[in-house]
Amino acid sequence: MSNIDAALAVIAQKAPGFSVDVALVLGSGLGGVVDAVSDAITIDYADLPGFPKPTVVGHGGQLVLGRIGAVSVAVMQGRAHYYEHGRSDLMAEPLEVLRKLGADRLILTNAAGSLVAEAGPGNLMLITDHISLFGPNPLIGYHGADRFVDMNAPYDPEIGAGLHHTAAELGIALFEGTYVWCTGPSFETPAEIRALRVMGADAVGMSTVPENILARRLGFRVAAVSNITNLAAGMSATALSHEQTLEMAKEGSANLIRILLRYFAQSQ
Ligand code: HPA
Repeated sequence: MSNIDAALAVIAQKAPGFSVDVALVLGSGLGGVVDAVSDAITIDYADLPGFPKPTVVGHGGQLVLGRIGAVSVAVMQGRAHYYEHGRSDLMAEPLEVLRKLGADRLILTNAAGSLVAEAGPGNLMLITDHISLFGPNPLIGYHGADRFVDMNAPYDPEIGAGLHHTAAELGIALFEGTYVWCTGPSFETPAEIRALRVMGADAVGMSTVPENILARRLGFRVAAVSNITNLAAGMSATALSHEQTLEMAKEGSANLIRILLRYFAQSQ
């Protein structure tokens, strides 16, 4: 049995007949979203073949199925990062499982550094496009014509507009911009950040882009929001660390949770 069929069998046993409207991937420090999931059924990744074993503090390692408002959600609390294993395709099977459960929308969240001085720590940035030039494409090695994924509109404008609308209703600033995927796990240098700014990047992080590419191949409509935890290297006197990322994620994550909950409450 494939990992995908085996994971689907585990889910069918724990949550019989459950079908998903929206899938959500939570980044560092955003685990609090699951508190708002009602009728939650939680399954450890360890029980789901093909789901990643988290090695990063702040990434929970659980799949939570349930409802937020009228929407049926599957929340991945924790993801695989390229820097953990040297593979950019480790989210392929989990995403395929969520797609097979019926999800057609995918909302990705992450912690990121900002290249825009006005959008400092505590702010949120809707990702409208990305730059994926520094790590391997997660579809390398796939066969079949569907590997040649069109990337003209990687992020769904309709979901983005919905999130903007919701943020405005709540009076929460939602910046938007281009996210650049750097492999990590070391942070970038000031010279790299200057170069990335010239390329058009507004936020920098170590995730999300491989998932976006995998998800677009699967036909998901994708939205992504960065929780800005720091100004990028060279833009402030603060040294960058994972502890600082987790600490600074708290402020933005409270707002991001408010936006997501209201967005779900208003959608079908
Ligand atoms: N760079 C890369 N990844 C990040 C950063 C950053 O400055 N902040 C949070 N994740």
